[in-house]
Amino acid sequence: MLLGYSRAIPSEKVDLDVNKTVESALNILQNQARFYNMVIEKELNPDLPRIAGDPSQLEQVFINLLINAADALDGKGKVFIKSKRITEGGDHYVEIDFTDSGPGIPEGHIDTIFEPFFTTKPEGKGTGLGLAVSRGIIQKMGGRITVRNKPNFGASFLIHLPMFK
Ligand SMILES: Nc1ncnc2c1ncn2[C@@H]1O[C@H](COP(=O)(O)OP(=O)(O)OP(=O)(O)O)[C@@H](O)[C@H]1O
Ligand SMILES: [Mg+2]
Repeated sequence: MLLGYSRAIPSEKVDLDVNKTVESALNILQNQARFYNMVIEKELNPDLPRIAGDPSQLEQVFINLLINAADALDGKGKVFIKSKRITEGGDHYVEIDFTDSGPGIPEGHIDTIFEPFFTTKPEGKGTGLGLAVSRGIIQKMGGRITVRNKPNFGASFLIHLPMFK
């Protein structure tokens, strides 16, 4: 978990561009050795609804998910990032999907991984706060983050954010 996020820093709520935030998270990570052998495929819908929130906090969520994927893939494999526009009962949402080609989440852990301090990483490597903090950020934006395993593929994290009205 990166240290950039702190509850002490007041969050800035502005109109943000989800696709640009994906790109800025990738820019931060692309020079990290851990990402040199990862293939990242993006399918970003250029016509997304407006979202209100703090771009640096959303960027932090994307960075957490990408570092988790790199850890699961041991730095070699694929991550697919997709952004979509969803309409449900007349309301508009942005859906962002991060799917990796790693081993997935063991079934027994699927309900636990968002708990603070839950980690399967060796001591000194993970604190187990990445997903707990990420869920907090998404909930503050009125959204939700869920996970499932894609059969014969890897873990798939889905973020659902409501349009700013
Ligand atoms: N993409 C993934 N594939 C497989 N397992 C994952 C994936 N993402 C998360 N996990 C599991 O969920 C656990 C919790 O993740 P979380 O990001 O909250 O903490 P962490 O990565 O262990 O530590 P930190 O993020 O604080 O450095 C991980 O230790 C790992 O077991
Ligand atoms: Mg993590």
